[in-house]
Amino acid sequence: MTDNSRLEKAITHITSRITQRPAVAVVLGSGLGDFADRVVDPIEITASSIPSYPISSVAGHEGKLIFGKLKTGTKESLPLLIFKGRVHFFETNDLKATTFPISVAKALGARFLLATNAAGGINPAFSEGDLMLIEDFMDLSFLNPHQENHSSTTTLFHASVPHYLDKQISGYITDASAVLGITLRRGTYCWLKGPSYETKAEIEMLRRLGADAVGMSTVPEVILATELGMRTGAISLISNMAAGLSEGRLSHEEVAVAAGRVKEIFTALLEETILRIKD
Ligand code: HPA
Repeated sequence: MTDNSRLEKAITHITSRITQRPAVAVVLGSGLGDFADRVVDPIEITASSIPSYPISSVAGHEGKLIFGKLKTGTKESLPLLIFKGRVHFFETNDLKATTFPISVAKALGARFLLATNAAGGINPAFSEGDLMLIEDFMDLSFLNPHQENHSSTTTLFHASVPHYLDKQISGYITDASAVLGITLRRGTYCWLKGPSYETKAEIEMLRRLGADAVGMSTVPEVILATELGMRTGAISLISNMAAGLSEGRLSHEEVAVAAGRVKEIFTALLEETILRIKD
């Protein structure tokens, strides 16, 4: 099956279930899925029921698409499509599977993307539980998703898009944090393929290169969404300080526990941000 027919099949299934086209797509990272409970009158579609839809095997990545709106008092958000759980590159070694949700969101009409993740903190000023606005990223996967998504062109590079993260959406995240009194860190996110966590020496290398946080997701989604013309913002939850900056061994459970601790702050930040997004 071609990539287009895979996408068409998925879209046909999804559109038969929804009542309204989404304007804003939200990807919820490790342990952050509870935000989806904020949606009023949700329409939930299980990823495994959608033809051709890739399924995550990572704990805490439930695999649901949730359609609906946020409503608080007199304020109502644009229609949302929330991806509860994502497929990381390391699960399939297939970038198309990793970015499939973005293709789905775009095909359904979404014009904005908010991407979230759990990440290891590298900037020594950060602490576990901090929230970081992703201002820029480093793609140390060297996979060049850009070329992957433009297979007919071989000479396109990241430089053709000067900045992947939208200034206005980033401004909404900043304003929302100010209104809520949340300290918002800012920095550069480094994407590594994983799935193993880094060594101390690798983290020291990334620190010297200028990375503030490290993780195994988000960058392929941000690249594709931006290139498809979606305005994109991204937030990392610093779920742990990276190797060498904290005691003990890192584990996925630790990431989930940290996410659980800041769930309410994270939810409030996302909600305030989404309510600011207007056409
Ligand atoms: N390294 C890589 N990915 C991560 C980390 C980390 O320390 N924490 C959460 N995702």
